[in-house]
Amino acid sequence: MNSASAAQALLDWYDRHARKLPWRVSPENRKVGEVPDPYRIWLSEIMLQQTTVAAVKDYFEKFTRAWPTIEDLAEALEEDVMKAWAGLGYYSRARNLKKCADAVAADHQGRFPDREEDLLKLPGIGPYTAAAIAAIAFDRHAAVVDGNVERVLTRFARIETPLPDAKPEIRALMAELTPQERPGDFAQGVMDLGATICTPKRPACVLCPWRPSCKVQGSPLAETLPRKAAK
Ligand code: ADE
Repeated sequence: MNSASAAQALLDWYDRHARKLPWRVSPENRKVGEVPDPYRIWLSEIMLQQTTVAAVKDYFEKFTRAWPTIEDLAEALEEDVMKAWAGLGYYSRARNLKKCADAVAADHQGRFPDREEDLLKLPGIGPYTAAAIAAIAFDRHAAVVDGNVERVLTRFARIETPLPDAKPEIRALMAELTPQERPGDFAQGVMDLGATICTPKRPACVLCPWRPSCKVQGSPLAETLPRKAAK
């Protein structure tokens, strides 16, 4: 399987099995012209750092009900934002969330920049989040690499170098596999694959769209990847 056919197999799988998440535009709705809202993508990606999808859903609904746009969040009192965040943990995320909303409202007319390098300048946005927003909200070709992607790709290509040393190789492989069209759906597809099929324990290789070319499919080696450097 070359990169193009691997990407296509993954997108076909995503079209059938994408998880329904409140910030996502489903592939069917995209076909009729709905586009993702960068504010909702940003908010979800900040909440999903260090927090599970299940825990994030209710907070995401609460925030977008209270503050439907980034301008609303910029006008909110920090105290109210901190209160709404209570329970999600890692409170520096909430402080930076407010700072970032203020910066986008004040310096960017309320619109998120669409390039990774500009997104990176905003408070609380690191390399992962910048790539995720660029790809998912703006359809830009960006290599989105989180823990799920690391697990899926170290297995797919049998990368046995331990983390973190394997990171450059994983990033290069993600950049090569990511298609020019639908880079955001591709990234979310790899993340969903990692969350539902290519799981840390007992991956469900028989259900995987990448089974034909995965280097470790069905082997006990799958569960041992990614390797981590001894502490
Ligand atoms: N984890 C973090 N961001 C995600 C996304 N957009 N889709 C699925 N899992 C995620």
